[in-house]
Amino acid sequence: MGHNVGVIPGDGIGQEVIPEALKAIEAVGVQLDLTHYNLGGARYLDDGTVLPDGVLDEWRGLDTLLLGAVGAPGVPPGVIERGLLLKMRFELDLYINQRPFLHEPDVDMIVIRENTEGSYAGEGGVLRKGTPHEIATQGSVNTRMGVERCIRYAFELAATRPAKHLTLVHKTNVLTFAGDLWERVFNEVSEEYSGIETAYNHVDAACIYFVEDPGRYDVIVTDNLFGDILTDLGGAVSGGIGFASSGNLNPTRTGPSMFEPVHGSAPDIAGQGKANPLAAVLSAAMMLDHLGETDGATAIRDACHANFETSGSTSEIGDAVVASIGKS
Ligand code: IPM
Ligand code: MN
Repeated sequence: MGHNVGVIPGDGIGQEVIPEALKAIEAVGVQLDLTHYNLGGARYLDDGTVLPDGVLDEWRGLDTLLLGAVGAPGVPPGVIERGLLLKMRFELDLYINQRPFLHEPDVDMIVIRENTEGSYAGEGGVLRKGTPHEIATQGSVNTRMGVERCIRYAFELAATRPAKHLTLVHKTNVLTFAGDLWERVFNEVSEEYSGIETAYNHVDAACIYFVEDPGRYDVIVTDNLFGDILTDLGGAVSGGIGFASSGNLNPTRTGPSMFEPVHGSAPDIAGQGKANPLAAVLSAAMMLDHLGETDGATAIRDACHANFETSGSTSEIGDAVVASIGKS
């Protein structure tokens, strides 16, 4: 019996990169019992379905989920993002979004993005829509519990790393309510981790350091929106977004965690075999780690690193990864 994994290839290049991720898992001999789900923008355009009743409950019984990318031209903004992706993150309480960036010799950092609150929570609304007096508000929700569990996770992670360094990124000089909560909790929790060196950067300054001096970072913890933006930048400074993997984690393991590349469905290059599958393959390696298959995870990761410079079509790069497995 293998691990029970739900697979959502989704839209665009998601359909192309997920088979490569599954190929790599097969090549390291890890057994999975896969259930495929046809969800995403294409399915929505086809029959109006975003997330059928019962599917979420089905997922709760799985070990993990592997997602390609969702989003398709012609679908109004937010329908799939809020109705599927964010719904998974919120309903399955995937409160950590872990995004590692490795690009030797200058970049070796992991961003811990809070994944269930902040500006993503959906707080706010609109009044007098379409009139000159229209008002739109969109607040940022930060709970003591949500901030603390995220920060604690980041300290625990930093404690496992050689550099043992954790940076809080926020904008405490302007977001004085939310920033103050984050900063106080960060400082309080840091008292329990005397072995971890800490730092604080405003998010705008962090953008400069990501580009000019990424070596200063080890683990970074930040809120949902800052984490979204910073991790695209993290991809850009560590070889490209085509290498950026992520885990949407429920560290309490009361349900499945979900693994996905940071990139989107890229409709402009979809269907042409142009997408680099490494982000999805590395996400699959994170998934194997989570499942306790550490040997398989390490073998896949090493094979990916051996192919960072490999060029070719999506499946050619996937084949090159498979050919490298066990050779390092
Ligand atoms: C990501 C993506 C999503 C996000 C979108 C697709 C809703 O950009 O995973 O980073 O903003 O979280
Ligand atoms: Mn993003």
